[in-house]
Amino acid sequence: ERTQVGILGAGPAGLLLSHLLHRAGIESVVVDTRTREEIEQTHRAGILEQGSVDVLVESGVSDRVLREGRVHEGIDLRFGGTSHRIDFAGLVGATTTLYPQTEVFVDLADARERDGGDVRFGVREGRVADVTGDRPVLSYVDGAGTAHTVGCDVVVGADGSRSETRRAIPGLRRYSREYPFAWFGILTEAPPSAEELIYARSPHGFALISQRTDDLQRMYFQCDADEDPSAWSDDRIWSELQARVAGDDGLELRQGPIVERTVLPFRSTVSEPMRHGSLLLAGDAAHTVPPTGAKGLNLALADVRVLAEVLERALGPAGRDALDDYTPRALGRVWKAQHFSYWMTTMLHTAPQDTDFDERRRLGELAMVTGSTAGSTYLAEAYTGWPGLR
Ligand code: DHB
Repeated sequence: ERTQVGILGAGPAGLLLSHLLHRAGIESVVVDTRTREEIEQTHRAGILEQGSVDVLVESGVSDRVLREGRVHEGIDLRFGGTSHRIDFAGLVGATTTLYPQTEVFVDLADARERDGGDVRFGVREGRVADVTGDRPVLSYVDGAGTAHTVGCDVVVGADGSRSETRRAIPGLRRYSREYPFAWFGILTEAPPSAEELIYARSPHGFALISQRTDDLQRMYFQCDADEDPSAWSDDRIWSELQARVAGDDGLELRQGPIVERTVLPFRSTVSEPMRHGSLLLAGDAAHTVPPTGAKGLNLALADVRVLAEVLERALGPAGRDALDDYTPRALGRVWKAQHFSYWMTTMLHTAPQDTDFDERRRLGELAMVTGSTAGSTYLAEAYTGWPGLR
């Protein structure tokens, strides 16, 4: 069996790539060791940059995001018990859209099915081989136990943070940073507590009040990395969240049954280069960010927009030299998003070794960001996403 582009990983990155390639007349085969149902049940972040919305709509994936997504024109940064609005629309003329990653995945999987895409979920032992030359292979074992190999022109590793494909790059350099905390995430059946998202810093630690629908909300609070979510009663969760948003304005969270709880990992990583020979990495396979600022999915989609464009040239008259452009072009955005996610994280969280000096310095930092147009614009520009494919 042969195809032009073999893609390992049918998450948002792998599926969007397959979709964009199809639009450019390029064939691909996508395989994933998870089933479609497993991927659909993985809760991830919920905020899309304008460029992410645009790629879904303009490339013809679906316009459901325009109908069901909720446009947010800003966020609240909350500290010292007071909210400070960052007006994205007013400052940088951009907005974000609340539309959970699972919905993005559903739209992409439906679009591939609609357009006759070749996506093989629930396989075993997905691998790439012979990536140094120009005849790489994608291999896997199907549900009946039969081994398959697909000869490709290039292969793409979109297989997430625990990527297998990444190991095929000799001399891969991995840059990373650990954080001494994690997030406790909940879904609650309650009405929204605020119009927009609230990112709160308090002496008790960080909290984020996000949303899903009129009657389902997503909230997070900083916890220890080894926290056991099942050890927490609903009451204890609510009092922890409420303490972190408490203030003179009397902000009260609207409570309801907690229907899901998880502890989210927290790490910054970048693997370089993002391409070796005929193998190219995209999304979490190449980099992960801590969740503060919701850059992970947006960055994966941005990688794929660059990658689709590079592959279109490389598989056409320009030839394989065009592949050389991928790493430098993708990494420009990756490192900006790394800095932004690190900055939002360290500005808003409390680390165990922090002193009173650190606490008061961060309040100074937050006053600089919220108290001037220059400071707020810096945050707004990064949060809403840097424009364009460069
Ligand atoms: C959500 C997650 C984030 O990490 C973030 O910064 C904003 C929103 C969310 O899941 O809704």
